Amino acid sequence: MTHAGGQMWGGRFAGSLDELFAQFQKSLPVDHVLAFADLQVNRAWSRALANVGVFTADELLRVHAAIEDLEGHWRTTGIPADDPAEDVHSLVERELVARCGELGKRIHTGRSRNDQVATDLRLYLRERIGALASAITALCGQLVAKAAAHHDAPMPGYTHLQRAQPITIGHWALAHCEAFARDRERLRDAGERMAECPLGSGALAGTVLGVDRAAVAADLGFRGGPTHNSLDATAQRDHLCELAFACAMACTHLSRLAEDTIFFATQEARFVTFGDAVSTGSSLMPQKRNPDAMELVRGKCSRAHGALQALLGSVKGLPMAYNRDLQTDKESLLPLLTETESCLRVATLAVQHATFDVARCASEAERGYLNATDLADLLVEAGVPFRDAHGIVGAAVNRAVALGVELQDLPADERQRLLPQLRVDLKQALAARTVLARRDVLGGTAPNRVRAEVTRWQQRLTDWNTEDRTP
Ligand code: ARG
Repeated sequence: MTHAGGQMWGGRFAGSLDELFAQFQKSLPVDHVLAFADLQVNRAWSRALANVGVFTADELLRVHAAIEDLEGHWRTTGIPADDPAEDVHSLVERELVARCGELGKRIHTGRSRNDQVATDLRLYLRERIGALASAITALCGQLVAKAAAHHDAPMPGYTHLQRAQPITIGHWALAHCEAFARDRERLRDAGERMAECPLGSGALAGTVLGVDRAAVAADLGFRGGPTHNSLDATAQRDHLCELAFACAMACTHLSRLAEDTIFFATQEARFVTFGDAVSTGSSLMPQKRNPDAMELVRGKCSRAHGALQALLGSVKGLPMAYNRDLQTDKESLLPLLTETESCLRVATLAVQHATFDVARCASEAERGYLNATDLADLLVEAGVPFRDAHGIVGAAVNRAVALGVELQDLPADERQRLLPQLRVDLKQALAARTVLARRDVLGGTAPNRVRAEVTRWQQRLTDWNTEDRTP
């Protein structure tokens, strides 16, 4: 590759780029995905240039015809990621010159690749954010389906991975939905930070010829109008860091969902079985049925964290304004978006193919002293101060452990000795279903509350589906 041919900037150079560096500095293998956004930007910019006299009305038609032709061509052939062009902007300009000659050479008037790439990326990310949001909608759809089916099904709830209190399977499923709902909001929010149009910021100082930036912004569908500082508009990437954080956080939540279900699928828990569609076997141990789908989701999460770290690091300490370091933003961000989306899709599939053993979950919810707090609450109702009740029940649990029974199964004499204050039928009062029904509070695990939350979530999913369909 020589300076004389190909590049947009050969004028003052006589020698050619070292081949190693030529390859090193290319961004086309990564930024070719911006091609259609770049064509959109070229369409709007040429229109703006026509308004200030760079193109006549007839010339503009020819430029637009060239853009349309190139767009149609790439829609059938795909974008040539391995072309010798340095980046997507050089590739598009070269192809337009090939189609409309001298007019194509005028299209970069008053523009820089710095404001161009900033604009292309925002346009492109709009679509990617939309796809991520709808992947979250789909995942929550599967979780809500589980919650609807099991809104009243008891299972053990854990803190410190020690049995704590009974919960319903539905309550567990909707807990994960809440986290993904915040991720979805964060993604949409990151999109909000991309609502202003950088085009017309030039390389760093703004454009010339009196181009109407507001019209350009409107033309490209930027709701926030044009950006207000050309240095910032070309040099900042915090909206990308924000998007990367939203993805890294969603991956972190996926990893927690994965960990829960991997534990549920152990022989020790046996709460869940993953179907064949998302399980794998062992090359050696014939009995194995491994939850690899969720394990890979959990594993890939750390790469998402790495991408966020890389992005933050690439902007730290950069002098105002554009620096070539910023080209690496896409290398970190774009694979992160792809990975996050595929983790969301695979987790959705894994939830869909996860079957709860409702009977086992229910019987396990009756074991392991998950009702000890409720026994203390019964003592409170009988007039014992809670702190004393806590101590009394602690002693009762110790005795029950020694005898190998549950609290409600303590022999009558032991019960009389340890809990003389209580007259109630403990079998009934400490049954998991009774314990669940007592958490009848907004946000609580009582089946009627979970049922109401399922209804709220179904409405929310309907709203999200509508949002996902509107660009
Ligand atoms: N490919 C570059 C990027 O993605 C845009 C080109 C800017 N080049 C330059 N020499 N100012 O950031």
